[in-house]
Amino acid sequence: MSKTAILEIDGKKYEFPLVEGTENEVAIDIKSLRSDTNGVTTLDPGYKNTGSCESAITFLNGEEGILRYRGYAIEDLAEKADFLEVAYLLIFGELPTKDELIKFHNDIKAQSHVDEDVKRIIDGFPKSAHPMGVLSSLTSALVAFNPSSVNVDSEEEMYNAIVKIMAKFPVLTAWAYRKRVGLPLDYGDDSLGYVENFLKMMFKKPNGDYIPKQVIVDALDKLLILHADHEQNCSTSTVRIVGSSHAGLFVSISAGIAALWGPLHGGANQAVIEMLEAIKEDGGDTKKYMAKAKDKDDPFRLMGFGHRVYKNFDPRAKIIKRSADSVLDDLGIDDPVLNIAKGLEKEALEDPYFVDRKLYPNVDFYSGIIYRSLGIPVEMFTPMFALGRLPGWIAQWREMRLRKEPIGRPRQIYIGETLRDFKPVEKR
Ligand code: ACO
Repeated sequence: MSKTAILEIDGKKYEFPLVEGTENEVAIDIKSLRSDTNGVTTLDPGYKNTGSCESAITFLNGEEGILRYRGYAIEDLAEKADFLEVAYLLIFGELPTKDELIKFHNDIKAQSHVDEDVKRIIDGFPKSAHPMGVLSSLTSALVAFNPSSVNVDSEEEMYNAIVKIMAKFPVLTAWAYRKRVGLPLDYGDDSLGYVENFLKMMFKKPNGDYIPKQVIVDALDKLLILHADHEQNCSTSTVRIVGSSHAGLFVSISAGIAALWGPLHGGANQAVIEMLEAIKEDGGDTKKYMAKAKDKDDPFRLMGFGHRVYKNFDPRAKIIKRSADSVLDDLGIDDPVLNIAKGLEKEALEDPYFVDRKLYPNVDFYSGIIYRSLGIPVEMFTPMFALGRLPGWIAQWREMRLRKEPIGRPRQIYIGETLRDFKPVEKR
């Protein structure tokens, strides 16, 4: 017999089926709630208790610190796979064979140019524009240069749209940076790997070559893998909900970039370094800032600590902490800002306020540290996150369309004025 949940409202009982996922997560299926109960709905601001979809892409268990893409442990993928393999896995559901991977990479390379007119759009932005705003606008503008909408029933059309965005997005990310620092907008080198080529597109000077150290390529590859998907977070839910109106892939991703920009989401890695710099400017007193973070009357929060779903530890933070240590060692960096980071990390891990609330350093605490040590400017941190998250957004958009999900349209509980008489302006 299938399991059900009983809900009692004003003495009347209603029965709803329970849905169980492959990892034994249980949900109450309330699809018929409003019609069965004549209009009763649920209230769940921030959706902390709401499953918005069924998904076969990413499994995470915040209590136990588990993260898996398509059933593979994040620890294994970060150690043994590269970013492009992980992108393929997330989007298409299986790890690619050698031939599939070569084809995927070649198809991406074949699309790794953007229309020259895009440069004129970039010209119109002031240098001071935040690269996330530029990136979101440019991703949206790609639609104008690729106007045909994707027929989601055609595997070929879906595949072509996917390789196009995988190819052009790193170019746009690098160009958003180059515009900001006044470097000419040009291309990398298609004979390189995806990540190496991206680094070259970012850092190559017009009068010299750029050959990144292997430790840098490896650390960035790992960071992109760790950021590649995280099930129904704020930006991914945005991508799915925008796409649910049958808006196209590129424009849905553009909306996801906007959602990722905020300091409580992807913007946290930038906020971490800005916070550390502010502490340094203020004399480096970490204890003072620990006290501010704990003071209920002070809005200050320790950026890079805490997570909506990981309430014990963030498995990505564990992996990337090791990477951060080896990059700092290899590059021989002794940076006062990074020393403040180490001090805060130690104090917070021993402080009852943080321990009791299960507030641990999250992936963005360490990603900010790595990006800074690689010489990536702070306002580029969140675009780097977007580059990593791209395959996840694509995979989730594709899944949502293939499952023919209905348009996203939450309900509300209205708490405003009830009907009142209109007063002409002279009587107000
Ligand atoms: N510093 C100080 N106190 C904190 C912090 C923090 N970073 N995070 C949470 N708390 C406290 C809250 O004040 C609250 O205390 P209370 O119970 O005494 O009222 C308690 O811990 C629970 O916090 P919530 O805000 O309810 O936790 P929630 O799950 O809603 O928020 C969030 C998670 C937004 C990540 C939060 O921890 C935060 O603001 N962290 C800093 C920003 C950050 O690092 N964001 C990156 C997230 S990771 C990512 O997007 C990839």
